[in-house]
Amino acid sequence: MGINLLAMGSYFPERIMTNDDYAGFLDTSDEWIRTRTGIDSRHMAGWEPVWYMGKKAAEMAIERAGISPKDIGLVIVSTVTSDFVTPSIASVLQYELGIENAAAFDLNAACSGFVYSVDTARRFLETDENIKYALVVSAEALSRIIDFEDRSTCILFGDGAAATVIERSDKMYSSFLNSDGSGARKLFAKNCQVAPIVKAESDFDDGFPEKPVHKLYQDGREVYKFAVKALPAAFSAAAEKIGITGEDIDWFVPHQANVRIIETAAKNLKIGMDKFIVTLDHHGNTSSASIPLALNEAIEKGIVKRGQKLALVGFGAGLSYGSVILEY
Ligand code: UT7
Repeated sequence: MGINLLAMGSYFPERIMTNDDYAGFLDTSDEWIRTRTGIDSRHMAGWEPVWYMGKKAAEMAIERAGISPKDIGLVIVSTVTSDFVTPSIASVLQYELGIENAAAFDLNAACSGFVYSVDTARRFLETDENIKYALVVSAEALSRIIDFEDRSTCILFGDGAAATVIERSDKMYSSFLNSDGSGARKLFAKNCQVAPIVKAESDFDDGFPEKPVHKLYQDGREVYKFAVKALPAAFSAAAEKIGITGEDIDWFVPHQANVRIIETAAKNLKIGMDKFIVTLDHHGNTSSASIPLALNEAIEKGIVKRGQKLALVGFGAGLSYGSVILEY
């Protein structure tokens, strides 16, 4: 069974952080950021909670789909920057959007979160005939967990949210999800701290580098090495399942982390860069929101058209990676 991405929506906070803004308080430059990453600017959340950004994107997607929220039977929110440890943002959105009877949960697969969520939604649609439509929302405010003193990491990230309404279809579909947990310590942000009284009495080395709670740590070079292999591997594994190659794909929509990663992966796949959607220059890396934000923008600009074959490829903390191949 395949799926149809019935409609998409997006939301960006108003504030834009340029490379020069960072150069104003960090030992960095527009030239370094641009040449090493391809990023020029990114949006940064102000007062908006992450759930609110997700709600705005979802409202747009539902309106464009022309459906009633009451017909949505599944809500999945992918995020690494939830406003809450609990409840899930998905539960908050289920109520806020007027969705009455739906399973709702958050999914954390880091920057692969959209790919994981779409594939999870497809599995629900395949096995539960009571679900007519699934809503997948990817909402992120990386600005809330980045360390603004860490110049090699903070300049990469941006904030935003995107959503899509999904229904069953008989269109082409394949997917591949994987994870290499041996790299978990290379990219992380801790969520909870040990109670001070316990910390004072004993210590435990969990093997993760020292970093304050809620601050993102990244071993950039190691993650880079992983990413340039993971991107082609994730696509090829899904493509082999249905006997296609990169030649059969109209558009690759990869996770928007660093243009050099995309260029290297394109070279390894022997696919021209003209088949890759790249929006990281003005979005930065928005973690799980990056693929749907790039896809939605390409649809709005008329670049991606109905009937075309897409490869959505994610990679990130975990280290997780995966791809979904589908017809738009
Ligand atoms: O979404 C999750 C997945 N994440 C990724 O895919 C990120 C993968 N990693 C990367 O994209 C790259 O590793 C970075 C963009 C994070 C870093 O680029 P790099 O080419 O790997 O740089 P580097 O870490 O090897 O650093 C090169 C130099 C260093 O100086 P020295 O030691 O050569 O003197 C850094 O201190 O660049 C320096 N540097 C900077 N200089 C100016 C690091 N960050 C900056 C900066 N401005 N912002």
